[in-house]
Amino acid sequence: MMAASSALRAFQRRLLAWYRVHQRKLPWRETRDPYKILVSEVMLQQTQVDRVLPKYHEFLRRYPTIEELARARTTELRRVWYPLGYNIRPIRLRRIAQRALRDHGGQIPDSYDGLLAMDGVGRYTAGAVLSFAFEKDAPIVDTNVARLLLRYFGLKSQGSKGPLQRRLWQLAEAVIPTGKGYAINQAMMDFGAMVCTARAPRCPTCTLRKTCRSYPLTRNGHTTNYSRRTRRH
Ligand code: ADE
Repeated sequence: MMAASSALRAFQRRLLAWYRVHQRKLPWRETRDPYKILVSEVMLQQTQVDRVLPKYHEFLRRYPTIEELARARTTELRRVWYPLGYNIRPIRLRRIAQRALRDHGGQIPDSYDGLLAMDGVGRYTAGAVLSFAFEKDAPIVDTNVARLLLRYFGLKSQGSKGPLQRRLWQLAEAVIPTGKGYAINQAMMDFGAMVCTARAPRCPTCTLRKTCRSYPLTRNGHTTNYSRRTRRH
């Protein structure tokens, strides 16, 4: 099933217009440095934006370059990371830095193959780096994006997980207007976090409601919840 192209175009147009007005100002959107983007995305894998913000700055002050991270001592690395949790993440980041120095001339690679070969980098993080650092039209599906696509295009969240995941990644690719991967991906993240939220979506004022297959989710006080199913990528 392909999404109706008018619904697809409405999605792209309205979402990008919404994003121009409502986008969150976030420090990793003010850089295209692949190293900084990677640090932010690894932090954001399991941690909310407001908790990541101070750590993002602190971490990059302490380890401003790939070289410095590659040389980091474990004790200090864990101390700087604390209290973000999932303490394997900074260790993985250091391994990525070491690998970048060894195999990629000290650069974060700009290809799926190069990125996916890195420790702890899956499809989501690879897509985020390709799209947010290198501005390629790479799809990303995280919880916010999945919830938005699922609702807007009316996918059923029942059934087995594999086919739904495949469908979500296909859709995430199909919604990218050529050359606008950066903007639409950031827009979907903000929209999922601010409008199409898990528990209390703001349907009555939603800019996508006329073409949304799930509108209105809040009728009779019910909300359709989308969570947990696709958290890991
Ligand atoms: N969560 C993961 N990546 C993000 C980003 N670039 N902006 C906001 N939230 C995010």
